[in-house]
Amino acid sequence: MATTTSAPSVNITTVLHENRVFPPPKSFAKAAWIKSMAEYKKLYHESIRQPEKFWARQAKEELVWFKPWKSVLQWKLPQAKWFAGGQLNVCYNCLDRHLNTPTANKAALIWEGEPAGPGTPGEERTYTYKQLHREVCLFANVLKRNGVQKGDRVIIYLPMTPEAAMAMLACARIGAVHSVVFGGFSAQSVADRIFDSQAKVVITADGGFRRGSVVPLKKSVDDALALKDAAGNLLAKTIEKVIVLRRSNHEIHIQEGRDVWWHREVQNVEADCPAEKLESETPLFILYTSGSTGKPKGILHTTAGYLLQAKLTTKYVFDLRPEDVYWCTADVGWVTGHSYVVYGPLANGATSLMYEGAPNYPEPDRFWRIVAKYGVTILYTAPTAIRAFMKWGPQWPDKHDLSSLRLLGTVGEPINPEAWMWYREVIGHKRCPIVDTWWQTETGGIMITPLPGATPTKPGTATLPFFGVVPEVVDDQGHPVPKNSGGKLVLRRPWPGMLRGIWGDPARFVQTYWSEVPGCYFTGDGCRQDKDGYYWIVGRIDDVLNVAGHRIGTAEVESALVSHPNVAEAAVVGRSDDLKGQALVAFVTLKTGILASPGIREELRLHVAREIGPVAKPDDIRFAEMLPKTRSGKIMRRLLKQIAGGGEIKGDTTTLEDFSVLARLAAAEE
Ligand code: WTA
Repeated sequence: MATTTSAPSVNITTVLHENRVFPPPKSFAKAAWIKSMAEYKKLYHESIRQPEKFWARQAKEELVWFKPWKSVLQWKLPQAKWFAGGQLNVCYNCLDRHLNTPTANKAALIWEGEPAGPGTPGEERTYTYKQLHREVCLFANVLKRNGVQKGDRVIIYLPMTPEAAMAMLACARIGAVHSVVFGGFSAQSVADRIFDSQAKVVITADGGFRRGSVVPLKKSVDDALALKDAAGNLLAKTIEKVIVLRRSNHEIHIQEGRDVWWHREVQNVEADCPAEKLESETPLFILYTSGSTGKPKGILHTTAGYLLQAKLTTKYVFDLRPEDVYWCTADVGWVTGHSYVVYGPLANGATSLMYEGAPNYPEPDRFWRIVAKYGVTILYTAPTAIRAFMKWGPQWPDKHDLSSLRLLGTVGEPINPEAWMWYREVIGHKRCPIVDTWWQTETGGIMITPLPGATPTKPGTATLPFFGVVPEVVDDQGHPVPKNSGGKLVLRRPWPGMLRGIWGDPARFVQTYWSEVPGCYFTGDGCRQDKDGYYWIVGRIDDVLNVAGHRIGTAEVESALVSHPNVAEAAVVGRSDDLKGQALVAFVTLKTGILASPGIREELRLHVAREIGPVAKPDDIRFAEMLPKTRSGKIMRRLLKQIAGGGEIKGDTTTLEDFSVLARLAAAEE
């Protein structure tokens, strides 16, 4: 059965902005990789008319192969094989290939740790390509020494330190499949991911830093390894070793025989570790992401196609030049951190900056201090961060010299035109083009985006498709809708970086992505194309919410809530939020005899944080005597959304809301 979604209507506020056009600055048009719309169109048309020719040329020019491929694309919906017969290694393409070039001694990673207090710099480290290569080879040998073999799954649960990138690259080097778990997720989430991926090893740290406090990562891993399912079986029984990075010097429990220290292990291995020759479709990583039903699904990406997508989009969308200092502020726990902190920039021989802490710790000028300190030229961040900076005021960026910036990017959620304009004026000083990039965990890389030397931009739209991408806006029957009408966004053609499946669940893969509109990949997003053909993404139209740029499935939060002994039923919906884009509103009915109170509300929020992670904590919890349901017993989410959108909870928070009348009325309308 396909997901139940319906096409959205046009968002009037964005229509007002479609006539504000900002052409690419002249300086870009001169030096950019793609210098004009004519050049973009020529390449785009080639990528659509002769995709195999186009992608073969890109794969040959951009990647280093151990063995050439036999066919560019074998496509039998929904399964794509890109560059079958070829052999390569992602880590080799990110590191080794630069070693006999002038890039060898260039900074590959610049890392800034969380600072200790106001005005103080954070701890800092820089690795050249040569140094990073050595560290990765050493750690790849540590993995081998601890029993990791080609094809094994490895969980990476680390703070934003260079070791997170090293661990990913080390897995890629030996053909192990990494699954990075965001450090803000709970022990339960770690256990669920270990269980689903049947991972053998966890890489973690004694702790990470966040806003001056220590995040006890190793403690969460210990808890995860002790968690059991309903039948009493350990969820993480496949784990043989835990490799622990010393970061916070926080006291932790070490279990002899299972837990080993990163810094001790590297002393026992050689620095020589040849990169494995891997088939193009060898799994590279699994990244769990929320969907409209059930637990998060393990999105699978493979070697050649993913790398090509990451490399090519980084080069063209950010118009990378050798002298750039490129900073993508995403955490490696999300797909943006995979493609645009690690794989894309390193494959291009760029300098990639990593920052461990929060944007406002110790003060709200943290980002701008870093931009000025390192001379950042390209900044890629999320609309939710931009809206927070707007709220904190221009005095914070104004304190710093931002003249090194030449390009600004955004990702993760629709950007409201006001935030776009603020970014352009206050951060970019009207000098820097903005690339609003639309894509998903599933797409592996950027899909809809301006190219900064070519595409005129408008505030609030991701503009036009990248090479090889054929988006379409369709109605509920799957027919294309006219320009300026709202609809569902689908992608008509396979692309190299596309997901290859959901780990261990081929049926869910077909049902989620390939059943809604026959013959197409369904994105789950609503969209409108304007008169110039630009795509305006409206946001999710399934039961997935985008809270501060993080994907959260309402079903997941509901099941976390009902797992609390006092909860009878729960329904979670989104309401719009000025800062976070969307906020989570939970409607809860308590078990008989349990009284609603501020205490239980807080307890339920903490319970969700324990079950999933603090990112999924409901913003509002509203208690109701019963939830409005249809005659067939389905919760009427549409009604709840309207109620949730009606404002914050007012007055006495312990009053039960009575939806019975509303529900009866709505059911009668059906
Ligand atoms: C949303 C993040 C509007 C969208 C890379 C998508 C966006 C979901 C944009 C994927 C954008 C991402 N404009 N919406 N530029 N970028 N989205 O998997 O709803 O964490 O489906 O990947 O974020 O989120 P994910």
